[in-house]
Amino acid sequence: MLITRLLETGSIVPLPKYKNCYLATSSPSDVARVESKTFICTADRREAVNVPKAGVKGQLGNWMSPEDADAAIAERFPGCMKGRTMYVIPFSMGPLDSPYSKIGVQLTDSAYVVCSMRIMTRIGNQVLEKLGSSSSEGYFVKALHSVGWPAEGHPAQRSQWPCDPERTIILHKPEINEIVSYGSGYGGNSLLGKKCFALRIGSSIARREGWLAEHMLILGITDPKGTKRYVAAAFPSACGKTNMAMMRPTLPGYKVECVGDDIVWMRFDQKGQLRAINPEFGFFGVAPGTSRTTNPVAMDTVFENTIFTNVARTSDGGVYWEGMEDPEPGVTITDWLGEPWTPGSTKPAAHPNSRFCTPASQCPMIDPHWESPEGVPIDAILFGGRRPKGVPLVYEAFDWKHAVFIGAAMKSEATAAAEHKGKEIMHDPFAMRPFFGYNFGHYLQHWLSMETAVPNVKLPKVFHVNWFRKDDQGKYMWPGYGENCRVLEWILLRIDNEPGTAVPTPIGNVPTREKFDLEGIQVDFDGLFDVPVDFWKNEIEEIAKFLYDQVDEDLPEEIKEQIDNLLKRLNSQ
Ligand code: GDP
Ligand code: PGA
Ligand code: MN
Ligand code: MN
Repeated sequence: MLITRLLETGSIVPLPKYKNCYLATSSPSDVARVESKTFICTADRREAVNVPKAGVKGQLGNWMSPEDADAAIAERFPGCMKGRTMYVIPFSMGPLDSPYSKIGVQLTDSAYVVCSMRIMTRIGNQVLEKLGSSSSEGYFVKALHSVGWPAEGHPAQRSQWPCDPERTIILHKPEINEIVSYGSGYGGNSLLGKKCFALRIGSSIARREGWLAEHMLILGITDPKGTKRYVAAAFPSACGKTNMAMMRPTLPGYKVECVGDDIVWMRFDQKGQLRAINPEFGFFGVAPGTSRTTNPVAMDTVFENTIFTNVARTSDGGVYWEGMEDPEPGVTITDWLGEPWTPGSTKPAAHPNSRFCTPASQCPMIDPHWESPEGVPIDAILFGGRRPKGVPLVYEAFDWKHAVFIGAAMKSEATAAAEHKGKEIMHDPFAMRPFFGYNFGHYLQHWLSMETAVPNVKLPKVFHVNWFRKDDQGKYMWPGYGENCRVLEWILLRIDNEPGTAVPTPIGNVPTREKFDLEGIQVDFDGLFDVPVDFWKNEIEEIAKFLYDQVDEDLPEEIKEQIDNLLKRLNSQ
């Protein structure tokens, strides 16, 4: 068994406190996605990435010519797996019996990757059988991965976590549905079904086929009357998708069930209903901050059949991370780098981007329809991010074009999920900045075209949420987590077109006080929903500059109109 091999080589250690759980600790230079080394390779540059104005550095993806990509591959791959085992993993993104699913085959020289792919995707003979059947046209995405170590002429890294950070490169060829990833074992760079296939190659297939591949969670929410709705939500990495997907609502009578926590594939059916599947089979979730109080459901999911990466270890064979309940007295902690750790230590015990990789089927609130081949019906889409200032708890788009503009204008504080440093507020349109598989201008056009995707299209309502607004003392103004169901309750009222629920502001509709349930919590309603005009004038100016600079000739007229309209609304305040 591969686990035994990983244990023998010291790549993972057992966690005897739990059932079938293991801990891997990576090289300190291989802990997150590397956006700067990730490329989309097409013959025509403008297909792959938006072309910024002269002198402006593009922020929405990197392009490489197929020739340069092939040269990069030729420099790295020959002999790179010499003397080691290469594994072949046929995998399905999406339930095997779903017409929306797609198949991939990954080659890799990492047993850690095989064990993780087995959790994150549906793998094995069942996939090969489907691939061989006529209905799937024998078509699959080719995914090649090597950790790139030991490579001739390149010095040894830590042998427990082979990688080649200096020469890491992640290449996507959407025209021929191929992925080549070299040098990194970190999940987002090495589990090629996830970001590389389901988002980058996926979004490009989706454009051709008329659907959407997005960085979104999916949840089902049942109200006290028993009506169930599904909602999808796009937040940048480490901004709350997994938590929201597993939310335990604090309002009585509500029930939330989880369909997926990171990626959605969705399309309008012939009746005009938007339907979504989760192409994944597991959760690759951020560990720090996960606790009995913040996310009890995750805590009930992850202590069986789970691979942890870069969390801290306890002397009683368990795991520990920042925000988790303290271990029992007498239990000592070893940090993710293998050093003794105490609460007084200046460095974190777990890496801020440490992760659990766990089967979705173990989630106690997994939705009964999470593997439905036809997908679940989506009635609302949420966009959101970490916005300490100026952005209300929730606001609603006026219409579809405005909704697409809100997605395009998304920004969020940088997190540990990628290589960015500090807490800079970055543009992250649709939470897809690191994941676009094609030109963002074309992507906007594709989203706009959904308004007429099918006759009788039933467009979902679209909202922007922000759990992360801070007061002048720097404290979060909103309790978040399970209390976010109060926002969902209001969203359900909006879906049902309840009268008296919203008032317009220049940026969108916000809740009326009467129809927003604050019973049992102490919050500053006015502060949470304030739309400061000066802040927003600056904001729109900055967003307009970003979109014009970055997307330039490919910026759709509809988006330019949205910018002008918002400016007019702000100026008439
Ligand atoms: P994902 O990467 O988008 O899936 O984000 P996660 O759900 O893993 O959350 C990332 C981090 O944000 C964790 O440390 C969470 O504890 C924290 N977080 C999630 N939801 C909330 C919330 O509603 N309020 C606050 N303050 N933090 C949250
Ligand atoms: P996340 O997924 O969105 O849950 O952080 C991993 C990633 O985006 O790198
Ligand atoms: Mn993600
Ligand atoms: Mn997540």
